[in-house]
Amino acid sequence: MKKLLSLVLVLTLAFSLAACSKTVAETTTAKADTTVAATTAKTDETAAATTAKTGAKLVVGVVQTNANESDWRTANTKSFNEAFAAAGFETKMVFGEGDHAKQISQAMQLIQEEVDYLVVLGLQSAGWEDVAKAAKEAGIPFIMADRKLDLTEDLYTAMVCSDFAAEGNKAVDWLKTQALDSYNIVVLGGDTGSSAQLGRSKAIEDGAKANGWTIVFNQNMKGWDETLAKQAVADLIASGTKFNVVYAENDNMARGACAAMDAAGITYGKTGDVKVIAFDANKWALQNVLDGKFNLDVECNPLHGPRIVELINKLAAGEAVEKNAYVKEEMFDTATITQAIVDARTY
Ligand code: AHR
Repeated sequence: MKKLLSLVLVLTLAFSLAACSKTVAETTTAKADTTVAATTAKTDETAAATTAKTGAKLVVGVVQTNANESDWRTANTKSFNEAFAAAGFETKMVFGEGDHAKQISQAMQLIQEEVDYLVVLGLQSAGWEDVAKAAKEAGIPFIMADRKLDLTEDLYTAMVCSDFAAEGNKAVDWLKTQALDSYNIVVLGGDTGSSAQLGRSKAIEDGAKANGWTIVFNQNMKGWDETLAKQAVADLIASGTKFNVVYAENDNMARGACAAMDAAGITYGKTGDVKVIAFDANKWALQNVLDGKFNLDVECNPLHGPRIVELINKLAAGEAVEKNAYVKEEMFDTATITQAIVDARTY
């Protein structure tokens, strides 16, 4: 029956890859870190119970973005694989490799294969209705992780995501406190249409408008690519465009921008002429904040594995879950960061 239903819906997919919908209001939870601890305790019990009940391992399908999109993505994928293995889940992870349509057909394939849970990390936030409907029809819980998708609440089971607008607003508020004589901002955006890019870009665009700042360059880098970011900044410098802020929507692109400024002899960071803002807060990037190369790094936490294990274990046990959970995230300023903070970083 599940196979027939998903087959019918796969066919409908061919006719409707259109994508757009309204976003849904959310609630925030600050239990992220504690949640992880709880998961550990529960996993053993539930893993045993799950296997006993069905006689088979829980199969979790994960529709991931790109395998090597960024250091953040690498940590994210590792977190899923490690936590799912520890929980006794069988993981079917697929990578869209920058192709939204490919992610959609991969998701439909996993529904066809009758996975027990479907976890989606969308390259783009729009265009997931058909997949969500197919999962619902097939009785497969649809979980959004990392990036919220444009789906109405009736079309997904739960989400554990980052609040990208809040991340961007943290950077804008920090920029305001810098009280620069002028603001000429370079925006290095992430993959176009991803909720991470949409949220962070809107924050700086609205912030610039509200504060009379100038965005001298605003371009999205396919695949969040460090080399593309470096080239874009090198070309900008060669064009003679003056700037004093780099707003790079992830650590890798910020490092690319710094490499271009190094090559041109432009100073940046704590004692330099250009303020460098990054997102993700990988360990190596926090070392750059400590060393004064990056002025600010806004955390986007990739360690979703244990959080999704917690969620699935609760669902498998028939327990109530938080429908819309946002991960608690911080920011790190070169003026206040310590070596201890860097040393404590796990990704
Ligand atoms: O969705 C989170 C974003 O995806 C990270 O900020 C970026 O590094 C990653 O590739």
